[in-house]
Order: sequence, then structure tokens, then C-alpha cells
Amino acid sequence: LADPASPTQRVSGQPKAGFRTVQHQVPLLSLDNAFDAEELRAFDRRVRRGLGALGAPSPYIVELKIDGLTVALTYRNGVLTEAATRGDGLTGEDITANIRTLRSIPLRINSHIPLLIVRGEVYMPKEEFAALNREREETGQPLFANPRNAAAGSLRQLDPKVTASRPLKAFFYDILVAEGSELAVPDIQSQRLEFLAELGLPVNRDYRVCANIEEVIDSCAYWAEQRHKLSYDIDGLVIKLQSIAGRVELGHTAKAPRANIAYKFPAVQEETQVLDIEVNVGRPGAITPLAILRPVVVAGSTISRVALHNEDYIKEKDIRIGDWVLIHKAGDVIPEVVRVLTEKRTGAERQFMMPKNCPVCAQPVFRAEGEAVLRCVNESCIARLRERLIHFASRDAMDIDGLGPAIIGQLVDAQLIKDPADLYQITVEDLLKLERFALKSAQNLVAAIQKSKEAGLDRVIYALGIRHVGKGAARVLAQYFRSMERLQQASEAELQTVPEVGAIMADSICSFFGQAQNQQLIAKLAAAGVNLQMPEADLRPADGGPLPLNGKTLVVTGTLTGFSRSEAEEAIRRAGGKATSSVSKKTDFVVAGAEAGSKLDKAKELGIRILNEAEFVQLLQNKGSVE
Ligand code: IVH
Repeated sequence: LADPASPTQRVSGQPKAGFRTVQHQVPLLSLDNAFDAEELRAFDRRVRRGLGALGAPSPYIVELKIDGLTVALTYRNGVLTEAATRGDGLTGEDITANIRTLRSIPLRINSHIPLLIVRGEVYMPKEEFAALNREREETGQPLFANPRNAAAGSLRQLDPKVTASRPLKAFFYDILVAEGSELAVPDIQSQRLEFLAELGLPVNRDYRVCANIEEVIDSCAYWAEQRHKLSYDIDGLVIKLQSIAGRVELGHTAKAPRANIAYKFPAVQEETQVLDIEVNVGRPGAITPLAILRPVVVAGSTISRVALHNEDYIKEKDIRIGDWVLIHKAGDVIPEVVRVLTEKRTGAERQFMMPKNCPVCAQPVFRAEGEAVLRCVNESCIARLRERLIHFASRDAMDIDGLGPAIIGQLVDAQLIKDPADLYQITVEDLLKLERFALKSAQNLVAAIQKSKEAGLDRVIYALGIRHVGKGAARVLAQYFRSMERLQQASEAELQTVPEVGAIMADSICSFFGQAQNQQLIAKLAAAGVNLQMPEADLRPADGGPLPLNGKTLVVTGTLTGFSRSEAEEAIRRAGGKATSSVSKKTDFVVAGAEAGSKLDKAKELGIRILNEAEFVQLLQNKGSVE
């Protein structure tokens, strides 16, 4: 059952204190860089001279240079046994538990080759990166500067569950070691890529085989233009000699192979002027400054505004209204001020001051100790209400089709809603009084709002916009507590026993439910018919088969390898059983994992049947006896 390729091994047990260092079997070299066509031609001449073939063109392959984190995976007899970061090229860190959580990385490849070590790049797609940062912004966590940092931060997590929750992907492009194989590993790089793909590893198919260096240069020009259309970042291209024998013959310097080179794209930065600085009021009342720019095209898209985050950021960069600034896209996605072109100052620039009052409701704003942002704390501020509603209706929350920021603005302005629960009272007649609504669109919106009543407990929890509670945490809370009522009643201590809930989140949840207006909101949602329970169907096996633990009471104790505590309890409920936390005479079974303590002792004392993890799994699968 403890097969390393078993799907249960994708998420492993406990966070680690630190990463083990691992010695790479072969050094993970780096690459030299070329920045223009001339440097590429010089590289080509060195290659052909080195091969004694100055007269003949040599075929190359141009691969995308994925901007992520290098990893080396070891498969023994076809099973993933180890994954390591590049580190300094000689020693890296053991990130096996984290790599296992990536769905696109096979735990078993299509070959029993005794030893295969492959090299590749783990990355985070651009859209997923933007969504992750949006979620972090909403929950007050520091943002990642770019997808590469987000990928690195996600992979170097001591708790693999965090990695599992991050949208990471990978591409593999090199075979470092292949031992004892009957299989012939191809001697041509493009065929090697296809070979890796046949093994089941993710391979980037956007490579191009070029007959000579001029075709390589064409390909570089093509990707410099087109790279923004890719769903992930590349920071250049890698040009490799197609012939692996040639690569071996040319050898390498201390740092890099002579037969490969990286072509780096020129960084795209543009100059523009700060026309004004505005402030926005966000959902948790955060007052954030935003620079309005003279529109400028940067790396394929027009930038006319850029976030300035907070007062300290503006001070640190010394950004003034009227300044000329250098703009780039951090990680190719998010526009950012690189620096102020102080040499262009005329003296007419104006310092920006953060407002002392909310720009919308005119109430005083506050800056909490240790926080960089100013907040409007007026619960009835219209701007805060609008942001709350936008979040409530958004795709990851209640997913109300057709209820976007513009319509929410209309509803708020018309004073039709004062909190999210009021949405459920809106009628077709109400909407018909507003501009831009016809009968059909009004009916559709009312239907979409009504439909969202069944969005599910996890979405409702997320939709409430509790600070620090993102999508993933909302799902965990819903699974653990199974009803809004139980969540509302949970103490800070109980909340902290939930995996993924730390002190800050627990505190935030308790203070949210402690506020009278939030209690009223939940009561109004319930009265409106919003489903605040985990759906019953979730507790039944998908195939409608018999429930193996029907009527049985189980206690889980100690650490299991294939389940977290809440997953094990979820599995018990799905199988028709009841999961409780203390052992008594009414307990039918105690599932004991590693380091089980007093509950196990008590079970022995009471003569209750004790199951190890394997027996527990058998029971869940209807293969064991419950009598
Ligand atoms: S080949 C011996 N191919 O770029 C060097 N590297 O600056 C083997 N990278 O950290 C590297 N995509 O991990 C190669 N298609 C690709 C790549 C690639 C990204 C990374 C590589 C290294 C860096 C080199």
C-alpha cells in the first residue's frame, strides 16, 4: 500500500524542519548567454571549429527557455524516487515530497529503465500567477514579484500541502543519466524530447529544428515578438547542437556546455509620465494609490495605470505627480515602476499625499500598527460595500453570472442593496427600473442570483471576504466544519487545529463572526435560502453503492501517511460513518497512525478494535469486515 507511485503519495504527511541536501550524480551545468545575432554567429563558429567542420553548417534545435526553477528527477525502475533543486549545480535540496504534488509530473513513467535522471523546469503559468496574487492581495499576504518567484516560493515550501495548493507545472528537456536500459536513448536532441514525452513526462513542443545558425536567428526574432502570447514566461531561448555526440565531443567549461547557448531577450522597459495619482478603496477598506500614466505600449500591451501599493512604496521610490518614469512588466505580467527618471524633473512635479479621509465616505482613515496600508473602517462606506459585492459575486466566490462591477455600482447607487444578502431580495421589477435592463436580462440576472444559493458552503465562506481566508482555506474550513453554524461557533483554539489554519487566520475568523453585523448577514443569507451546509450528496459514495461504515463511530489518532486528519474524517463520513474526537464505549474503531498516544491507550483499555492505516483503507473500500 505504501507504493511510492500510489496516488496517496501525492500529498505527504508532515511539514519538514528543513530540506535535506542532495549530491547530484552529474553536475547540473548552467549556460552562457548570447544577446544578439552576432553573438549567435560567433557561437556557431566556435561550435563548427570545435567539431572540425567549419565548412559545413551544423543543425541546431531552438527550445523555449522556461523561466522557472530547475529540477532533477530520479526514476528508479520507472518510479519517481527523488526530486532535487539545482542548488549550486553540485548539491541541491531534496524536494521530493513537494514535486509529488504536481499533477503533471508522473509518479511512474512508461518504462522500467533501472535509473533515469531527467532535468526540467517547474513554472507557474501567467494567469494562475495573477490569480494567486489577487488572492494574496485580498487576504493581506505579501505578493510575489513574478511567476518565477511564485514558483520558487511554492516549491521551496516545508509543508507540501502548500505546494499542492499552488498551480505549478513543469517541462522536461534533458536526460542527465540513463543506466542499464535496453531502451536506446536517442542521440539527437529533438528525438530525445520526443522520447521524454513518450515516457509520459511533460515536454514543450514549441521547439524548432534549424539547419543552420541563420534559421536559429530567424527563430529568435520570431519568439522575441510572439513570446507574450504564451501562457507562461520565457526569458529567452536555448540553442542546442542537435547531435548529442557532438555535444559530448565539444565538452564543457567549468560552468557551461560548449554546444549550447542561451539567447536572452532584451528587457522591455518604456518611459512614460505620471499624469496623476488616484486612490482606490478596496474590499477590506484598503486605500491604495494608483498612478495614472500617459498610455504606453510595453511588451505588447498598453499600460495606462500602475499600482503604487502604499505610502511607503511611493516614498521609497520618490514618485511624484508629473514625474517621468521607467515602466516594465514584472515577470512579463504586472506593470511596475522601475524607477523615476529624476534627470527629467523640471521642478513642476508635485508630491503626493495620502488622504486623511476616505475619498468616498469622507470618514477618517487609519493605518494599523505594523501595516503599510491605510484603511477606511466605516462599515457603511459605499466603496467598501461595492468591493465586497464584487468579491461576493465573483467567479471563485458565488459565481453569479452577469453580476459584474458596473451592475453592482448601479444597484448600490440605487440603494437597492446594503449588504450581499439583499441581492437575494432583488426582483425583476427592481431591475427594470434601472438603466440598461430589459425584461430578458433582468430575468437572467435574477435567475443567476437565485441559482447561487446552491453554490456550496466553501464558496459562501470565501464570498464573505473574511480577511486572510482565501479560496483554499475556505474549502478546508467547509470540509472540516460542514456547516456555517459550526464554523461560526468554533473557538480560536478549535480553528487552529484545522490543517492550514494558523493563528492569524483563526483570529481573523473569530473577530469576523464576533461582529454583530456579520452575524446578521449570515442570518439573512440563511433566511434567504442560501445553502450553508455541506451538501448531503458529498457524504455518499459516487456510485451510490453500499456504505461500508454505516452507523459506525470511529476515532482517528496519530499521523496517517495517506490522509491528513480531516481527510480521514471526511473519508469516514463519506463511507457513512461518524468521526468523533474522543474515545468512549460508543466508539466502534480507533484508526491509529504513527505516534498515536493516549487515545490509543484508552481504546486498548476499553477493548475497542484498533485499525492500522491499511486495515482502515480496506474497510473504506468495503474489503474488510466491520463486525
Ligand atoms: S538546457 C547544461 N533547456 O535555463 C545546461 N535549459 O540559464 C542545460 N532552462 O537553469 C540547460 N529552459 O534550467 C535548457 N529548454 C531548456 C531550458 C533551460 C529553461 C534553464 C535551465 C538553467 C537556465 C540556464
